[in-house]
Amino acid sequence: MRPSKTSVGIIGAGPAGLLLAHLLSAKGIDVVVLERRSRAHCESRVRAGVLEQGTADTLAEAGVGERMRAEGQVHHGIELRFGGEGHRIAFEELVPGRAITVYGQQEVVKDLIAANLANGVDLRFEVEDVAIGSLADPYLTFGGERLDCDFIAGCDGFHGVSRESVPAADLAVYEKTYPFAWLGILADVAPSAPELVYSASERGFSLHSMRSDSVSRFYLQVPPDTRPDDWTHEAIWAELKARHETVPGFTLATGPITQVDVAAMRSFVAEPMRFGRLFLAGDAAHIVPPTGAKGLNLAVADVRVLARALGEYYRTGSEALLDAYSAACLDRVWRAQHFSWWMTTLLHRFEGDPYDRRLQQSHLAYVARSRAQATALAENYTGLPYAD
Ligand code: APR
Ligand code: PHB
Repeated sequence: MRPSKTSVGIIGAGPAGLLLAHLLSAKGIDVVVLERRSRAHCESRVRAGVLEQGTADTLAEAGVGERMRAEGQVHHGIELRFGGEGHRIAFEELVPGRAITVYGQQEVVKDLIAANLANGVDLRFEVEDVAIGSLADPYLTFGGERLDCDFIAGCDGFHGVSRESVPAADLAVYEKTYPFAWLGILADVAPSAPELVYSASERGFSLHSMRSDSVSRFYLQVPPDTRPDDWTHEAIWAELKARHETVPGFTLATGPITQVDVAAMRSFVAEPMRFGRLFLAGDAAHIVPPTGAKGLNLAVADVRVLARALGEYYRTGSEALLDAYSAACLDRVWRAQHFSWWMTTLLHRFEGDPYDRRLQQSHLAYVARSRAQATALAENYTGLPYAD
């Protein structure tokens, strides 16, 4: 085995691993990123697209916000649609100064890969069989090589190897699975609404989002075992129309569908997020259902905290912030868990209990009527301020 050495070995080149690499290298800390998939694969994975105010600010401060500023759309509200009416949640009134930026996660990934490569960061794609050799005296093995590290950052998503390397007895796992999935499409058609529309229709939930003035993104609540090719494109449009054309005068424009995917709806948290010299960040440690648009934003929040803590360690030798990492992240993680569950429960069609259905209707009406409820939604959706 060919041994080599780095300060922080990062597993995974998703938003968490790439932003961590960028933030650490900017502080002069040596990193190596090991990614299983190809660069093209990482850059073409279509995922969420809503950046909280703090996420957009973090990317801009880190010097990777130029294209986001030019091509992303800043939105100052979203619409909740139910009972034959649309209700705007007006961020500018409820949480002045806070907005969201609609910009695809895959674009964030492209920007971060480009920035890391331009800065000479050691990003390795298509690396096979990455394994954590030891947690106490950390090293990574992959493709016949050994990489000694001061620290390992597990940024390898929900199905990665990092979390699996922790003894089960040291890990508390909390999870919840919802009885439905989201069928997502990308379509070459101009958005039919200026802002995102979360539609709680009698036929099930549907979301109208967008990527640009000519590309729209939609989601349909579907049964959990749905496969992308279960639905014809005609059937997708018919269902999207049925779930969105529920208010007077609204017509959904259709166009060629360029991609179809299905995402599970699940909540998951593994605690703590640190085991000796291994730090978990992003989806490796926690998953939220996409209704609150929090997944990418939590990943960014985690690595902000981790980059600061590692920066402090290499500058002063103090481990105080590293020791505080897990608790600091989990505070935000659980807030996002609650908000994502709240949005999911508020907006989806659940089969069964008529009592729960009446509660849901009352809750929807209350959110639409009450400034306090709408403010709580707006505050969580645009993202609570960082602790630091
Ligand atoms: N070895 C190397 N790389 C791995 C391994 C492995 N064994 N397992 C997974 N990976 C890579 C994946 O290929 C992926 O590129 O780790 C990366 C993890 O990236 P993400 O899944 O995007 O996770 P994260 O960076 O935490 O970003 C969270 O992504 O899934 C969305 O909704 C989620 O928006 C959230 C964001
Ligand atoms: C998206 O644009 O992909 C998107 C937007 C809002 C969500 C989830 C996904 O809640």
